[in-house]
Amino acid sequence: MGREPITSKYIEVRESEIHGTGVFAKTKVPKDKKVIEYIGEKITKKESARRSIALIEKNRGSETDGAVYIFEVNKRHDIDGNIPENTARFINHSCDPNCEPDVIKNRVWLISTRKIKKGEELSYNYGFDLDDYEEHECRCGAKECVGYITAEDNWPKLKKRLAKKKKKAKKSKKKAAKKPAKAKKEPTKKGKK
Ligand SMILES: C[S@@+](CC[C@H](N)C(=O)[O-])C[C@H]1O[C@@H](n2cnc3c(N)ncnc32)[C@H](O)[C@@H]1O
Ligand SMILES: [Zn+2]
Repeated sequence: MGREPITSKYIEVRESEIHGTGVFAKTKVPKDKKVIEYIGEKITKKESARRSIALIEKNRGSETDGAVYIFEVNKRHDIDGNIPENTARFINHSCDPNCEPDVIKNRVWLISTRKIKKGEELSYNYGFDLDDYEEHECRCGAKECVGYITAEDNWPKLKKRLAKKKKKAKKSKKKAAKKPAKAKKEPTKKGKK
């Protein structure tokens, strides 16, 4: 039989406006607190790579995409948080997060990076790379949302790519507008002189 989902005095789980199910602050949370542990199955790096590739393949092009739940704990092991007991797997991504994962004595915790108000949704930056960024649109709703789920270090590169894309789209729109519409064939006035 499986264990009960783990919880903490700080959290509750409910529907999120960002995506599906989310995790919310049940009370005020001070900065630098261990909000909830991210638990999972301890696996070797080799198994971790195998699972990541299998999951990416399985989710390619799917709307219910890319939920990779694997975290690095040390040089030899990762944990796969894709187990029902791991309540923290419901924490959504945000471009303006209030938590960050940290490994403390080989255990992964979500730590508050600022004071969190009661009722606020908990979030962290998933830290995805830029490969296939278009498959991970972000709906975090933050004022500073960059539009896609990716690590903050990638933001300058992402912004450049998006600007380039926008420019290209504008150019091809302009080109299409300039093209003369196909001339209609005038009916030939046969027989009239
Ligand atoms: C680990 S799950 C998070 C829990 C999820 N809300 C659920 O109900 O299962 C990760 C998935 O949630 C979705 N997600 C999380 N944060 C998101 C965001 N900011 N914008 C859009 N989708 C998000 C993506 O589909 C992502 O692959
Ligand atoms: Zn965002």
